[in-house]
Amino acid sequence: MKTAVFSARPYDRRFLEEARDRHHGGHAGEFTYFDVALDASTAGLAQGFDAICVFVNDRLDAPVLQALHALGVRAILLRCAGFNNVDVAVAQQLGLFVARVPAYSPEAVAEHALALVMTLNRQTHRAYNRVREGNFMLDGLLGRTLHGRTVGIIGTGKIGLATARIFNGMGCTVLGFDPYPSAAFEAVGSSVSLDELLARSDIVSLHCPLTPQTHHLVNEASLHRMKPGAMLVNTSRGGLVDTDAVIRALKSRQLGHLAIDVYEQESALFFQDLSGEIIDDDVFQRLMTFPNVLVTGHQGFFTAEALEEISEITLGNLRDFSAGVDCPNRVG
Ligand code: NAI
Repeated sequence: MKTAVFSARPYDRRFLEEARDRHHGGHAGEFTYFDVALDASTAGLAQGFDAICVFVNDRLDAPVLQALHALGVRAILLRCAGFNNVDVAVAQQLGLFVARVPAYSPEAVAEHALALVMTLNRQTHRAYNRVREGNFMLDGLLGRTLHGRTVGIIGTGKIGLATARIFNGMGCTVLGFDPYPSAAFEAVGSSVSLDELLARSDIVSLHCPLTPQTHHLVNEASLHRMKPGAMLVNTSRGGLVDTDAVIRALKSRQLGHLAIDVYEQESALFFQDLSGEIIDDDVFQRLMTFPNVLVTGHQGFFTAEALEEISEITLGNLRDFSAGVDCPNRVG
């Protein structure tokens, strides 16, 4: 079995190789690492490989899937939970095996959401810089006590639930909206309608998948239904948020704070060092000008524990494919 790993950063290589050495050496075959992302222009690199291994910003639309199939690729291993970047119907028509990592340390993402909230609320990023420059003034650093505030969780699945537990532990009132409410969530929060959640929450945190139904779930209308001055946190997928509408809401002061780990056009930016480049994305650059906006580059998953689990499960998916047995993580 030969696998081409796309969007491979040094940490992907390290954790995949460690997992291979631990358990899967015999089954996993050979890995070749490409640092480029997969798209129509790079699909040719998959020539001679049985499987490819991809991440969130690799593009697996119909032309790319057809090109991979024509090159002899038969399996697609996603190193992530979300599969909004794969045209699943076309993959099925082509008979491609597609498997994902449905769950890996949901707490890793939940804890990152908390880090974003705490940073933005207490301005620790600005305090860090100030103190290093010998400025010990507190003006501009005023936060709110989170204990007693209301946090709305949209999507109370694995990560939403982990986030709800954290905020419940901090003494917040936790509200949740999910078309499939769970008993586990009811133990730490209350399920309400989306409208009620938006109207009552001081912090709204997004944890639902990106689907045609959830695309631009946060838009002009939903932003107007939020409490004035509320904080919006998105650690799920950029496409859940209409960024232009969010910028207008920030300018009108309707939205008080924005913390995002994902961005709709992130594939042109994230996971690359562009520090010496001119960034062409004017919408992103406008976001960067707000003092009440905090952006991280899709690092919610980025803990050693999560990367270990991702590698283990990915290699397990590859083993199921090569053994021709049922794979519980198959998509479609
Ligand atoms: P999950 O499948 O356990 O939970 C998602 C929940 O969203 C489900 O309970 C589902 O019923 C609910 N949902 C579906 N449609 C909805 C809607 N219209 N409104 C409200 N809720 C809706 O998934 P999990 O593991 O909690 O992951 C959630 C998302 O987090 C993933 O889809 C992925 O996009 C994102 N993610 C981000 C990472 C990062 O590094 N920032 C890492 C891992 C996942």
